[in-house]
Amino acid sequence: MKIGVDYYPEQWDRALWEKDAEVMARTGVKLVRIGEFAWSRLEPREGEYDFGWLDEVIGIFSRYTIGTVLCTPTNCPPLWLYEKHPEMIQVGGDGRQIRTGIRGHRCINSPVFREYAKKINTQLIRRYAGNKAVAAWQIDNELEAYLCTCEVCRGKFREWLIEKYGSVECINQAHGNSVWSGEYSSITQVQPPTDYPKAWQNPALCLDWYRFTCDSTEDFVRDTMMTIRMEDAKVPITTNTWLCENTPDFYKLFEPLDFVSYDNYPPVRIPDDPEEFYSHAFHLDLMRGVKNKNFWVMEQLSGATGSWAPMSPAPKPGMIMGYALQAMVHGADTVMHFRWRTALTGAEMHWHGILDHSNTPNRRFLEFCELCRRVSQLGILDGTYIQSDIAILYSPEADAAFKIQPQTEGFYYFQQLKAFHAAFSHFGANIDVVSPEADLSRYKVVIAPSLYVYKKSVTENIYRFVVNGGTVVLTARSGAKDENNNCIMDTLPTVFKELVGAEVSEYDPIGSEKRIIRDFAGNEFECSQWCDILKLNTARAYAEYNDGDHRCMPAVSMNRYCSGVAYYVGTVCKSDFYESLASNLMMQTGIPKLKGLPRGMEVTTRTNGRDEYICFFNNSDKPAVMPLPKPMFSVINSAGKDRLELKPFEMDIVKK
Ligand code: GAL
Repeated sequence: MKIGVDYYPEQWDRALWEKDAEVMARTGVKLVRIGEFAWSRLEPREGEYDFGWLDEVIGIFSRYTIGTVLCTPTNCPPLWLYEKHPEMIQVGGDGRQIRTGIRGHRCINSPVFREYAKKINTQLIRRYAGNKAVAAWQIDNELEAYLCTCEVCRGKFREWLIEKYGSVECINQAHGNSVWSGEYSSITQVQPPTDYPKAWQNPALCLDWYRFTCDSTEDFVRDTMMTIRMEDAKVPITTNTWLCENTPDFYKLFEPLDFVSYDNYPPVRIPDDPEEFYSHAFHLDLMRGVKNKNFWVMEQLSGATGSWAPMSPAPKPGMIMGYALQAMVHGADTVMHFRWRTALTGAEMHWHGILDHSNTPNRRFLEFCELCRRVSQLGILDGTYIQSDIAILYSPEADAAFKIQPQTEGFYYFQQLKAFHAAFSHFGANIDVVSPEADLSRYKVVIAPSLYVYKKSVTENIYRFVVNGGTVVLTARSGAKDENNNCIMDTLPTVFKELVGAEVSEYDPIGSEKRIIRDFAGNEFECSQWCDILKLNTARAYAEYNDGDHRCMPAVSMNRYCSGVAYYVGTVCKSDFYESLASNLMMQTGIPKLKGLPRGMEVTTRTNGRDEYICFFNNSDKPAVMPLPKPMFSVINSAGKDRLELKPFEMDIVKK
């Protein structure tokens, strides 16, 4: 496991490079990431390349045994290129070009951009191929599913539709264009969705547009990857991602790449409301699940954040160390902090790095030094991995479709996933967050919230899992849409009716109104947002509405199907319900529970196939005490313990 930092030599005086490398080496930094925004320094004028400074930087770091993650610099084409080829600038949903001078404004579909990108990338990669100091390549920076509507993108979108559907008539049919005289008589009439409110646009068109933008990003990644591979056969390749509004389909994005890397900025404000999701362990599990293997954090919270928004509070004492270790125990083999030193200039001068503008050691720096020391003692975790009995399915298509058509006040797809994640975490379980198309055979319990848009392979995957003895939980809005994002003339949950042994006789999008459900054991729970009123076929009621118009009608059902069990949760509850359900599911499927975990205590168990290490992380601003089920050996303190006393954001790791 390694700690690194993101470094911008082009922003600092040359005299600082060596000093920085020297301090980093003493601190225990093993890697620097360089170059993702440096195109104008690498090619100041067309065809004039300057790699001298980069040679020097890589050389300096390497002398201090610090490796380099080199980036292709295509996020920020130089202004001479925008000036020469303004047609490569992205066009927004309002039909106007985005203004340059900031970053990320290139259209990744533009052939001109692609040509210039290939040229600079080839020069760069050729120069450093075989250089032992280069540890990995990062493609561009935080690629999104760009909603560019330039002429090239429009043309490509039309080609994409024709390739998918065959003809304009078939597009009309698939998109249901008889509504509002939306029928195309020629492909040239197809336009991407505009900036007008999504509510007025065709959801089928919007979902295809999202799919097209994901494919475009994937195509750009594949193309860049090929360029790298042509010149450099060995060094692993990644790109760094985050959870933005236009989230690309992570599974497609990373398919051709060697590993996933994630930009991890956990919020530093601890919410007063315990119902508010706080642990970002969900995001870390999501990233590990993209390729089902350990990943990197390419950017990690290092100080107060602020640039497009006013500054956030600084990370509290313990957070710099705690959140890096939290990422590591959830699968991050390497954590790179953003950034070594806070910028003096530019829009992000208030997005703080480890060091402040003053460049003198501060509280965060000292904690960072301690982190590097701690990580150097964790070699025992090298090569360990996480094995989970529980999976939560994340569908990029469902996520996109719910963004296109929000269902009811307060109903958010991600929140449903997080609610289940929090509930199982409360009992100390390992949880994978994986694609609905992942191999589910290794799990005992699969949570599949709101599988909203039909996909044959996914439906079959879920049935197969239950037929083979698995326990699945489906939730409201499952099976609501066909593959084109149109509604289906059938009772919900359509394709899953047989599996859950129940159907939705009526639904009520209650939004912020509150209702009560009562489970089979007489426990009551508050629910809101959505009420499916179930008609049971072969299923039994697990919980019924206990007030309002739907009193005594089933809200949650349980059905035995072949050798497995299928639950259907037709409403959205608070954490107490999910914890109760998680507890029952774990009991029924024989998944061990850790009882008595204090609020905020997160547990991850890692194994090397022989030994198991349990990592306890106190993700709260209060000290926590917890008795261990039996005396265990702490890897952190090299001491036997029968109880843990953890300071805020402190971690202990014990051998099972
Ligand atoms: C990331 C981005 C970095 C920097 C950071 C802080 O999203 O990749 O370049 O901008 O946020 O704002």
